[in-house]
Amino acid sequence: MKPYRKSPACSGDLEKQSCMVGKDSPEILIGALISGGGTNLQAIFDACENGKIKGKVVFVGSDNPDAYGLKRAKQHNIPAFTVNYSSIIKKYLETHDKKMIPDDFNLNDIILKQSIFDSDINFEKVKNYMISRAVAEAYLFKAMEKYRFDLLILAGFMRILTPYFIDKINTKDDSPRIMNIHPALLPSFKGVDGYGDTFRYGCKVGGCTVHYVDYGEDSGPIIGQKAFQILENDTLDTIKKKGLKLEWELYPECINLFAQKRLKT
Ligand code: GRF
Repeated sequence: MKPYRKSPACSGDLEKQSCMVGKDSPEILIGALISGGGTNLQAIFDACENGKIKGKVVFVGSDNPDAYGLKRAKQHNIPAFTVNYSSIIKKYLETHDKKMIPDDFNLNDIILKQSIFDSDINFEKVKNYMISRAVAEAYLFKAMEKYRFDLLILAGFMRILTPYFIDKINTKDDSPRIMNIHPALLPSFKGVDGYGDTFRYGCKVGGCTVHYVDYGEDSGPIIGQKAFQILENDTLDTIKKKGLKLEWELYPECINLFAQKRLKT
């Protein structure tokens, strides 16, 4: 897969996308990855159930056995599983056991493709990062293998995917099918604390972004964004509340654009 950097998928008002290419498509199958509370996941379940998304969630995977989103999946009778990233990564980093490395993992290929780390970063660090994550990703891929899905959504999944995993999902050139929601107006404030970074910077506007996942961190083509005003009396807590409320609208809208084949890259 080619990196999708600097090639926005779609922009502007979601209701008036200029990239619409068709509306009458069958229901899509959605796989979801989570790490935590799963309020976005819940919004997506609801949107599938009330017809706002023409699709259904076929599995929920978590890297964290305690994620509350797993309970939400159970309540909706959706198959769910955990791949315990922390323990897998720890085991690899402690043992450096080569038998844990998947047979189809090619370190040079992954290092050339990735844009998570700058080229001046210590090679051993990048190598250990990529191998340990790919070890966990091989388990993740195995757990997902029995489900057929059209779109993989990251809904508060707090792990960066390496090119090893991304290439296993995006098997057709120019047809990305992994989406993420980020709690900031990208390309500003990439990383784990979008609302916190927005607040501490003193921004007067905050927001959220849905984008395709590419080989970097929060760097893939933007599908949709929603913004809110930050007022004098706002706190980090009120900002998070405003942002999440918009996320629950934005993510289903973007997923439905995908379902209707109204996105192109
Ligand atoms: C959201 O703010 C999302 O943007 C970020 O993590 C948070 C997850 O929330 N990636 P939830 O698990 O969907 O409630």
